[in-house]
Amino acid sequence: MSVHTQNSRMTTARLRQMKQQGEKITMLTSYDFTLASLVDEAGIDMLLVGDSASNVVCGNQYTLPITVDEMIFLTKGVVRAAKHALVVADMPFGSYQISEEDAVRNAVKMMKESGCDAVKIEGGEEVLPAIRHMIQVGIPVCGHLGLTPQSVNQFGGYGLRAKEEAEAQKLLNDAQLLDEAGCFAIVLEKIPAALAARVTEGVSCPVIGIGAGNKTDGQVLVLHDMLGLNTGFKPKFLRHFAHLADEVKGAVGEYISSVKDSSFPSTDESY
Ligand code: KIV
Repeated sequence: MSVHTQNSRMTTARLRQMKQQGEKITMLTSYDFTLASLVDEAGIDMLLVGDSASNVVCGNQYTLPITVDEMIFLTKGVVRAAKHALVVADMPFGSYQISEEDAVRNAVKMMKESGCDAVKIEGGEEVLPAIRHMIQVGIPVCGHLGLTPQSVNQFGGYGLRAKEEAEAQKLLNDAQLLDEAGCFAIVLEKIPAALAARVTEGVSCPVIGIGAGNKTDGQVLVLHDMLGLNTGFKPKFLRHFAHLADEVKGAVGEYISSVKDSSFPSTDESY
C-alpha cells in the first residue's frame, strides 16, 4: 500500500515547511518509469532525474556528454510515474552556461517537453544571472554546490571539496547567493559535514546532502548505487540498502540454466 495520503503532491512550499519543522527530506535519482513508480510508491519526497544518467544509463565515464533531448526523454518516463514526488531534472552541461537567455530557453524546453516540476543546475556566483533569470520567469531552480561533477575536468577528479578555508568561504557565500536568488533547495555534494551543517543553518531553503553528513535538511543518493546495482562504486558516503546486483545475476543465471536444460517453460507456462 502506498504511504501517500490523498492530495499529497509534493511542492516547493511544502519542502520549505519541512525544513522549518525539522522534518527530513528524501530524494533519490530515477531515470525510468518502472523504477520511478516503485520509488514514488515507497513515499520519496523528490525524484531527481540526474545527469548521472550519463553514467548509470548510458555508460559514459562522465556526466558531460548527456544532452537536453536525452534528459527530456528520460524525464518524461519519471514524470509519468510520479504521483506524489516533486520531479527535478538536471540541466546538462552546456545547457545553462552560455548565456542567461540560452539557460532560460533550455529550462523552458525541459519543463514544457518533459513535464518536470523543477530543474537543477550546478554552480554558484558564476551561474547566478542564469538562476535569477529562470526564477524570474517562474522556473523553480535547485542549486548544486561542492562536488559538481560537470566540472570534473577542472577539479581533476571526484575528491572531497571545500576542505580548504578559501573554498569553504566561497561555498558559504555561493549558498547565500543562491538562497537570496530564490532557489527552492540546494544540493551539497561531498563536502565536510561541519561545513554542510553551517550552510544548512545559514540559508532559508532546504539543503539536501550527498556525502555531506547528517545535519542537512535531507539526503539524496543515486538509486542504482544505494540499491547495490553498481558494485564497482563504493565511496565512504554510500550505503547499500540492498544488494540487487547479486539478485539480478542470480535470477539471470537461473533463467539461463532453466532454458539450457529445457525446464523453462514448463507445460504450465505453455499454451
Ligand atoms: O546527477 C545526479 O545524480 C546528481 C546527484 C548526485 C545529486 O546530481
